[in-house]
Amino acid sequence: MRSIVILISGRGSNMEAIVRAAQTEQWPAKIAAVISNRADAGGLSFAAAHGIPTAVVSNKDFPDRAQFDAALQLEIDRFAPDLVVLAGFMRILTAPFVQHYAGRMLNIHPSLLPSFTGLATHLQALTMGVKVHGATVHFVTADLDHGPIVSQEVVAVTDGDTVESLQARVLVIEHQMYPCAVRWFVEGRLTIKDGRVYKDIGAQ
Ligand code: GAR
Repeated sequence: MRSIVILISGRGSNMEAIVRAAQTEQWPAKIAAVISNRADAGGLSFAAAHGIPTAVVSNKDFPDRAQFDAALQLEIDRFAPDLVVLAGFMRILTAPFVQHYAGRMLNIHPSLLPSFTGLATHLQALTMGVKVHGATVHFVTADLDHGPIVSQEVVAVTDGDTVESLQARVLVIEHQMYPCAVRWFVEGRLTIKDGRVYKDIGAQ
């Protein structure tokens, strides 16, 4: 049984999609904990209501990134996770933290990376006038919003789109693709080789 720790900063709808998929599809994995850097993160109550241990490590309690990340790492490692899942965890992570979870930390980003890193990705897409937009699941590296890509899904951008409408359509695909990617990981189906992710090639 694999152990997963999910990090959130807010609403937690991706976390919710993963928890539901793990339960209904009876993954060989358990969500060991949901941890937030914000005590007011909406997703914490969903996790608690589903019997998942929750914890808050507030970045406001630490003078710098390094000390916050060290405290967060201690909290995460209490649950001995095989995989750390960033689900709307809105923090820039330090290199030692990322290195500690190398090859076992996933993130979802609401754009077709490497386009539109950082914040306000839907606004960036509308401003650039792209005709397709989407979301990316990737392994986390010290390079913000980069790292080996596990999956990408695309939505068409329409003339009438606003930030809100585009965001809502992208979120629908996020809720499908993220549980799927996490499941591939827990089933041992992902291999990183030369910066690329291969599915189902086994150990070569
Ligand atoms: C999601 O759209 C996720 O892709 C994005 O934050 C939202 C969180 O929603 N993540 C990032 O922008 C990370 N750079 P949720 O809390 O409802 O899952």
